[in-house]
Amino acid sequence: MATPQLAGRHIVLGLSGGIACYKSAELVRLLVKQGASVQVVMTEAACQFITPLTMQALSNRPVALSQWDLREPNAMAHINLSRQADAILVAPASADFIAKLAQGRADELLSLLCLARPQHALALAPVPLLLAPAMNREMWAHPATQRNLAQARADGAAILGPGAGDQACGEVGDGRMLEAAELCDALIAALQPKLLAGLRLLVSAGPTFEAIDPVRGVTNLSSGKMGFAIARAAAEAGASVTLVAGPVSLATPLGVQRIDVQSALQMHDAVLALAAQQDVFVATAAVADWRPTAQAQKIKKDGSGRLPQLQWTENPDILAAVAAIANASPARRPFCVGFAAESQDLARHARDKLLRKGLPLVVGNIGPATFGRDDNSLLLVDAAGDRALPPADKLDLARTLVSEIARRLSEQGGGA
Ligand code: CTP
Repeated sequence: MATPQLAGRHIVLGLSGGIACYKSAELVRLLVKQGASVQVVMTEAACQFITPLTMQALSNRPVALSQWDLREPNAMAHINLSRQADAILVAPASADFIAKLAQGRADELLSLLCLARPQHALALAPVPLLLAPAMNREMWAHPATQRNLAQARADGAAILGPGAGDQACGEVGDGRMLEAAELCDALIAALQPKLLAGLRLLVSAGPTFEAIDPVRGVTNLSSGKMGFAIARAAAEAGASVTLVAGPVSLATPLGVQRIDVQSALQMHDAVLALAAQQDVFVATAAVADWRPTAQAQKIKKDGSGRLPQLQWTENPDILAAVAAIANASPARRPFCVGFAAESQDLARHARDKLLRKGLPLVVGNIGPATFGRDDNSLLLVDAAGDRALPPADKLDLARTLVSEIARRLSEQGGGA
């Protein structure tokens, strides 16, 4: 089972008035499943759309509804709630609620606690405020709403979405609240340390597919999960991430720009077009070493038992080509991380790749033991020695790898 991502975290989930309140019920379940304790706070308008009873039952805590609630011993619910929180997420954030935040108004509990959240205090850790707007497309596009959003953002709030598509009112456009799973991922991301803030990171992931003819091809068992986990971890750490993905059926991590390719040559062209502008390149893709000369029409079997004659050509080594750019640049950018997928003798093969491709870091793993799985164990190999990362969820390993990369970049100078 994957590691709960919000274990020990306390989340204040605010609901303002909007039909998207129905999604917030699912959101509470997801946050609780990730190990968070959730304190729901609802405005009067939110109570028109979903009952506090539902939200209490799902969060297993009484919902906070009023700043005048005398059951708070110190009668300061806004202070207590905002001081206990690791993050405050307002979902849905209505146009009216965002307008209130922009003006610094505080005439009910939710806006009051947002205004009171620690942001500058020396003794208190800042509490991130995330807003998930939800409204009709005309309301969203209105200059007043856009002005208020810009102000809320300038005052330190992060805006999540909104999405586009069918709206409850029957219209189609921007303004849908993000789905519960997306909001949960965004919250997890907001709580990660920003180790790669301002940096650009490129990842190659998944297998490649080398066509034999229009209906057949050669590929391998790479699922792309490790590469996608690295893309997610790097985006969570504040990097601007591009993911060049071979044929896999995985969802694109939040905030990651994705380029889909099929063959090694397409992956090579996509990566090389971007490589020189990157701070980091992580090559997790299991690139086919050879490609057959593809036939224009399907090869037919003629019943004679003769095997088709395939002509093979070696594919370019994408990682070695990017490493050559880095080794020629005075800043030694991009910082290149190779993967070594082996079936035996991991440390020796990984070190051999480190030297052969001129890399500062190689991550070794046993391919057959990890292909398609959600966990892995890694061996980090560099000039200083080897370090084993014991079996763990791929996302946890990806976060450790991101911190290892960030440390090396700052040692090189100029890192985040
Ligand atoms: N790689 C690449 N382009 C290739 C082959 C490999 O970018 N044409 C990258 C992989 O993404 C990985 C590293 O090189 O980061 C090592 O890949 P691997 O398949 O383990 O090794 P190879 O270099 O192909 O060597 P061998 O087949 O001998 O193990």
